[in-house]
Amino acid sequence: MFVCQQCGYESPEWLGKCPECGEWNSLKEFKIQPQQSSSSSTFKFTNQSFEKAQPKKLEKITYNEKSRIKTDFSEADGVLGGGIVLGSVILLAGDPGIGKSTLLLQVALGVSAKIPVLYISGEESEEQVKLRAKRIGNLEKAKNFSLLSTTDTDAALEVIEGSKPGLVIVDSIQTMESQNLGGLSGSIGQIRYATAALIKTAKTFNIPIILVGHVTKEGMVAGPMILSHMVDCVLFLEGEKATGTRILRSLKNRFGPIDEVGVFVMEERGLSEVKNPEQLFLSKQEEGSPGSVLVATMEGSRSFLVEIQALVIFSKLPMPRRVALGIDYRRLELLLAVLQKHIKLPLDTMDVFVNIAGGLKLSDPAADLAICLAIYSSLKNLSLSKTVAIGEVGLLGELRGASFLSKRVKQAQKLGFKNIMTSEKYRTLNNVIRGLE
Ligand code: TYD
Ligand code: MG
Repeated sequence: MFVCQQCGYESPEWLGKCPECGEWNSLKEFKIQPQQSSSSSTFKFTNQSFEKAQPKKLEKITYNEKSRIKTDFSEADGVLGGGIVLGSVILLAGDPGIGKSTLLLQVALGVSAKIPVLYISGEESEEQVKLRAKRIGNLEKAKNFSLLSTTDTDAALEVIEGSKPGLVIVDSIQTMESQNLGGLSGSIGQIRYATAALIKTAKTFNIPIILVGHVTKEGMVAGPMILSHMVDCVLFLEGEKATGTRILRSLKNRFGPIDEVGVFVMEERGLSEVKNPEQLFLSKQEEGSPGSVLVATMEGSRSFLVEIQALVIFSKLPMPRRVALGIDYRRLELLLAVLQKHIKLPLDTMDVFVNIAGGLKLSDPAADLAICLAIYSSLKNLSLSKTVAIGEVGLLGELRGASFLSKRVKQAQKLGFKNIMTSEKYRTLNNVIRGLE
């Protein structure tokens, strides 16, 4: 079999150019494992199920909640849909250095208080992992924590099958390679082989396995991406390296919802959970300074308040500056045009800076109203800092409703905010601004 090292396209003959992704000279030959072809389990399975195929009434189908392993992080458990499902394979993807190894080491140390955990590290030596573990965890509890430093897929499989731990972590899938295949570690063929073999082991012995996958700057590399349809669950750890905030998302989950997020912050001793994200995304200003408005935004099924800051100053430049940090630049330009046209604000002679406190990135359209009000507040030197604004602003200056509005309003009320502006109270941006004058 010839497999493209770029995209994973398979062909029975060698081709100079991959018909799938167009890359030249990327097809490499792979020997098909006799072990794989002789394992007729897939064949048997299809034959058997073919003979016995029987449709069932939905009501006759019994369902038992899969048993799950709880981690020490309720934020991570929430993202997974209640914990790690036995026998499931989870891919944790993220930029290098974002904290994947740290998170999984903490999870592993926590879980090992209850069940045996095997941590396979292909990136760091035993000493390095031990040092880090000492820094972030209580090693007293971690009696059942075993470490294997190897990059050999087959050796790792042998250890898993021999010791049958309760949880396996493979850090990272890109470092695993098998002597049975050609191609360097990190190549599509090697990654695919390692993942397929680990999935088979996970399902056979009902052992959950978490794989780490690095993602390059260009976005998802072919490597982890082709894996995402093989594994049960894909988690993504993201955040700005400069700020400590880390958000764990689920992009795919066969055993839970995909819109949950977990919020963490990277500290001296590893990651810690943030149960009230407000504490990160609201600045500590007491007296109201102009230019700050709050929005109740949604991340998954959870609402939290985020502060939007704007600074509007007189510009000396022929082309005034527009700087957008944490929101889309074009969104800012659009909202400035709406403010200029419908509210008649003289923004064409002003430099405008907009920032989301805490280094968060907002793509929630319901933040539009808060952005507009923050700009207005800075321009007019009018404090609106105890105001929560929720709504999308259209090109005609009209306000549109936000998803999960009642949930957002409740969150703002829970935190003691009384001045909450929504599209239910005001029909247009003009109505809102006239009310402030
Ligand atoms: P790491 O988990 O090695 O990232 P990944 O496995 O995703 O590549 O995290 C590395 C970064 O985290 C590194 O820049 C140092 C920082 N860090 C802390 O700030 N505190 C800590 O306790 C640890 C272990 C790491
Ligand atoms: Mg790492």
